[in-house]
Amino acid sequence: MAGASALSLQGVEVAAAGRTVCRGVDLDLPHGEIHVLFGPNGSGKSSLLSAIMGLPGYELTAGRALLDGTDLTELDLAGRARAGLGIAYQRPPAINGVSIAALAESLGATGHLREEEAALDLVNFESRDVNSGFSGGEIKRWEILKLFLQQPEVCLFDEPESGVDLEHIAAVGAAIERLLAQPAPSGRPRSALIITHTGFILDYVKATTGHMMIDGHIVYSGPAAELFDHIRNHGYSVPGASAA
Ligand SMILES: Nc1ncnc2c1ncn2[C@@H]1O[C@H](COP(=O)(O)OP(=O)(O)OP(=O)(O)O)[C@@H](O)[C@H]1O
Ligand SMILES: [Mg+2]
Repeated sequence: MAGASALSLQGVEVAAAGRTVCRGVDLDLPHGEIHVLFGPNGSGKSSLLSAIMGLPGYELTAGRALLDGTDLTELDLAGRARAGLGIAYQRPPAINGVSIAALAESLGATGHLREEEAALDLVNFESRDVNSGFSGGEIKRWEILKLFLQQPEVCLFDEPESGVDLEHIAAVGAAIERLLAQPAPSGRPRSALIITHTGFILDYVKATTGHMMIDGHIVYSGPAAELFDHIRNHGYSVPGASAA
């Protein structure tokens, strides 16, 4: 739809395993922008991203969630992926019986696999089943490589740095920067919503807006770097609100 945002959440409610974990979530991600989602453990960040992607067990139960103007509830997980939505999961499942080479081939993306596997230090992984027996850091690096194969237009990253060692973290940051700098196959600029606790990604990509989620609500949205500084110095309190 002309003029529509990449992702628009209006009063969104999310249920995880049948229990409401997010309520009244408003978030507007314009095409080409990078936003960051902060919040304490258990506040509902991963549930929100999982429900947007359509992961089984996570449901958009109220409000409106639009991907470039299309109501996400009209599409299943595969339909959302085909519409240009991609996610690097916090804890992705292993896919036994599906090798990386087979996945790349089915996506017509063996070229992208060759281009990026060295940068993410995943050379010689082609014959291995997706995420099967991968170390914690290898899983997180593969999730980024997977997005190069899928070429999504709207990218969701759930703690891409967690469990990644200090030497590989720079490779992950640089790879995310490279992915987001390339236009999507549609020719439009990519946009991203990135969950982080460490803020490391802010050194690599130009995030405009940060959102703070507490107890399933977005309680504050503002400039990303300033919000991260505030959280580092004052914890998850709302900037500008007077202390109790
Ligand atoms: N599949 C599930 N079954 C039961 N409860 C769930 C499920 N998924 C999420 N929850 C619950 O929903 C709440 C929000 O979890 P979620 O994983 O979204 O938090 P988070 O903000 O991503 O936290 P973290 O920073 O620790 O990753 C938690 O209380 C969690 O236990
Ligand atoms: Mg999480």
